[in-house]
Amino acid sequence: MPKDLPTPPLDSRTRIDTDQYADPGAVLQRLRGSAALSDADRAAITKRATRLVETLRRDTRPGLMEVFLAEYGLSTDEGVALMCLAEALLRVPDAATIDALIEDKIAPSDWSRHLGHAASPLVNASTWALLLTGRVLDGGAKPAHILRHAIRRVGEPVIRAAVGRAMRELGAQFVLGQDIDSAMRRARTQEAKGYTYSYDMLGEAAQTEPDAQRYFNAYTAAIDAIAKAAPHKDVRSNPGISVKLSALSARYDVLQADRAMADLMPRLGALARQAAASGIGLNVDAEEADRLGLSLDVIERVLDDPALAGWDGFGVVVQAYGLRAMHVIDWLDSTAARLGRRLMVRLVKGAYWDTEIKRAQTAGLAGYPVFTEKSATDISYIACARRLLAAAPRLYPQFATHNAQSAAAILHMADQDGVALDRFEFQRLHGMGAALHETLRTETGARCRIYAPVGAHRDLLAYLVRRLLENGANSSFVNQIVDGDVPAATVAADPFDAPKVAPLPTGCDLFAPTRQNAMGFDLRDAATTAALKAARAPFRHMRWTAEPQIACAAPFGQAEPVVSPSDLADVVGLVTTATPDTVAAAVAAARPWDAPPVARRAVLDRAADALEAAHP
Ligand code: FAD
Ligand code: 2OP
Repeated sequence: MPKDLPTPPLDSRTRIDTDQYADPGAVLQRLRGSAALSDADRAAITKRATRLVETLRRDTRPGLMEVFLAEYGLSTDEGVALMCLAEALLRVPDAATIDALIEDKIAPSDWSRHLGHAASPLVNASTWALLLTGRVLDGGAKPAHILRHAIRRVGEPVIRAAVGRAMRELGAQFVLGQDIDSAMRRARTQEAKGYTYSYDMLGEAAQTEPDAQRYFNAYTAAIDAIAKAAPHKDVRSNPGISVKLSALSARYDVLQADRAMADLMPRLGALARQAAASGIGLNVDAEEADRLGLSLDVIERVLDDPALAGWDGFGVVVQAYGLRAMHVIDWLDSTAARLGRRLMVRLVKGAYWDTEIKRAQTAGLAGYPVFTEKSATDISYIACARRLLAAAPRLYPQFATHNAQSAAAILHMADQDGVALDRFEFQRLHGMGAALHETLRTETGARCRIYAPVGAHRDLLAYLVRRLLENGANSSFVNQIVDGDVPAATVAADPFDAPKVAPLPTGCDLFAPTRQNAMGFDLRDAATTAALKAARAPFRHMRWTAEPQIACAAPFGQAEPVVSPSDLADVVGLVTTATPDTVAAAVAAARPWDAPPVARRAVLDRAADALEAAHP
């Protein structure tokens, strides 16, 4: 290309690969601009959001989960202990470990300071139970110690059962039914009011091929069942299904891209064709950031299937906390235009925040793939919503949020841009945000869909932990709305006005100033591997040689070729090994007086030669 021509801008799909670790400050700056909200717009949104918060607080009682998490959120030691317990309990198989775990997490915490705090008698009763459990499990001085020991022996199975039961109760809040038929029966009440559903068959992160087959069969059976309750011609009015690619392949990993593609393409393709034939929506959930590019490759190939022509029900999730969210929407928009087909796009903030942060820190990476300020995610959500509204009807935006501020911003922008209420919908998770969505639906007539997990308790763990982390964080909307100490105006505060917070340290600075951390690389990131490959390129065809380095002439072993373990045809170099004779000669050279006579003679001859050369 001639030098004076500007480099063409990268297309959105390429930028998804290059920008995983983009500069978050620069990305946020662009998003603030894309949101295009004036001061007056923002003031109007905040006013509406504050009113919504006041209405919700006045007219509805928060659920057990909300009150529980408000009391035991992640900002208290006890809350963290409970989260750890919940996370571990559900997968510990034996009673002895469960008892040890309960003792470890419950005994050292100070439950008494939570007594009588919560508005719910049930939460207060739980506090009493935790307090007593903690006292019983705690050692302590005699004679109470002896008594406690006795109670403890009798009480352990009871405590175990009670704690297990409490976790199940908490989990049950989020599940609509144990199987698809019971879930669909339970859905009828809300459907009668005008809600629609997207069913999520619990199960993800298949570890084996039989797991993936089992999840695939569950999706297939669920689509069959949902199809029977899908009377509408317009796919938006029918119930749908949400699937996770990690459930469909045990190799869903960029490092195994070919095998993942081979699993996912036929399976997702078959589910999409089945959903299309049934006139229902099929949505692909978004998971961890390092899987984004691979998921889009699978989606693109599936979408190219001519059998899907005329079906407007394929859905993709965009996570606003991701630095590449806007590129993904650009890509979806151009893909929809290319195919001449509408795509559904569910906009979420993202459920894997803790995982993303932990992974990047454990690996010592120089950046994060997600924003690290809550307000940045909220701004990104609004900017992405504006972009989606502009792309309607090519895209059908599905705004999945439980936050009144975000919802108020969407309604404001839709109104401003003249996007009719039937061109988009709101979505919430079953067990969350019911009051907000009911208010939105009744006040504005907006369409609302409920994402409803279906399945057995054993498949709930990962989903439950994400909900507990999300709602337990005191920055979360759900957490703040039940805390009467936080004024409505603060709960509904404008994210564009949020005070700056110190950035999370990254990579080498993680333990600063105490010590420097080791630097790491994300080998699943296309830009990182491209940089590593470029650094390696000059040596790509180099033949390295290695041989013993000793200070005397000696017989060496045979030169052996060394091949790359990833490509046995790639001869990296030749290695000549030392033999016992080489070693003997080397030792003799260092200590001639210990060497066997022949070697000693050789060394002395070499020394004489050297002397003669120096002083001819
Ligand atoms: P808010 O309280 O306003 O936001 C909480 C969110 O803010 C957190 O979840 C996180 O994303 C973000 N956040 C919190 N702290 C920080 C921080 N320090 N820095 C930056 N960001 C921060 N999630 C997925 O990942 N994939 C899916 O496929 C998916 N599907 C969903 C479907 C539906 C119908 C719904 C309602 C949710 C879905 N979610 C999915 C979950 C969704 O991401 C969370 O429920 C959502 O983030 C909560 O946002 P909110 O607006 O309701 O609450
Ligand atoms: C999750 O599984 C709802 O997809 C979202 O956390």
